[in-house]
Amino acid sequence: MFAIGVDIGGTKCAVCLGRPSENHVEIVHKCPPHATASVSPQEMVRLLAADVRTCIALSPERPVGIGISCGGPLDSRTGRILSPPNLPGWDDLPIVDELQGRTGLPAWLCNDANACALAEWRFGAGRGCSNLLFLTFGTGLGAGLILNRRLYTGACDMAGELGHIRLAQYGPVGYGKMGSFEGFCSGGGIAQLARLFVMQELQQGKKPALCPNMDQLGSITAADVGRAAQVGDPLAVSILQAAGEQLGKGLSMVIDLLNPERIVIGSIFARCREQLWPAAARVIAAETLPASRAACTVVPCALSESVGDIAALTVALYYQEKENRL
Ligand code: BGC
Ligand code: NA
Repeated sequence: MFAIGVDIGGTKCAVCLGRPSENHVEIVHKCPPHATASVSPQEMVRLLAADVRTCIALSPERPVGIGISCGGPLDSRTGRILSPPNLPGWDDLPIVDELQGRTGLPAWLCNDANACALAEWRFGAGRGCSNLLFLTFGTGLGAGLILNRRLYTGACDMAGELGHIRLAQYGPVGYGKMGSFEGFCSGGGIAQLARLFVMQELQQGKKPALCPNMDQLGSITAADVGRAAQVGDPLAVSILQAAGEQLGKGLSMVIDLLNPERIVIGSIFARCREQLWPAAARVIAAETLPASRAACTVVPCALSESVGDIAALTVALYYQEKENRL
């Protein structure tokens, strides 16, 4: 079976043609991605629909449909993107109707973290688990929950909006909220933490390697912090430790609440695990119930760089299988 994957993220939007099967996903063609901020949401919908038509033309047989993986909040039942904090302007957008209408293929919408949870569960680091949590830790912080071998979506498809939970009274802003889980554990959050740490050093008259003068403060990114930490820059290491501690707090609540057997974490965690994990593990060891903690392993995602494409294709596979069962 062939399917089309549409991955809508805070940084880029991308379309691919793939061939998901029992235990493997082959990506057959990948269209060049579009920078999300480069055009309006309406124009992006037109570009994505054009890419979908390209994939249909290249496909050896008619694709079964379009799996859309997108940052939430969204409602997969109505096919509408609601008000995503990391997709400014994409409010109340009927993406499923738009893509179906423009391409003639059925489309299914899924929260990106849920889509990644399904993909890692089926093809990656969560294989064989009955209870699994996936955390994005990228542009935003979202979670996908597989509970008792089913995707758990909650009362109105909002389950797993962990990024909105406040972990501290003060701290970086994420999801429009100070000290939130997304505020600490996302690309933008780490950049904000870095600015705070750098500012303190500058005020003490030091010249931190990460940013030797005030003028460059605004341009520090999470990637800069990650690179500096990897070569042992002490300030960068302490920034990631601070984020790791908050990650530990957030994970502790999840571990006590859900007793998951595995937690898979993507993107920044996968790249900076050595710096993030020890601090998180210390908090988890101090905060969680011993039996729950012993039953749970925390691992980086296995699908890494192509996770977005595979997740979107997995959405098509998931809904196709679901409809076939009905
Ligand atoms: C959104 C989540 C999403 C996550 C990762 C958060 O800001 O609210 O729905 O899963 O970002 O994109
Ligand atoms: Na979710």
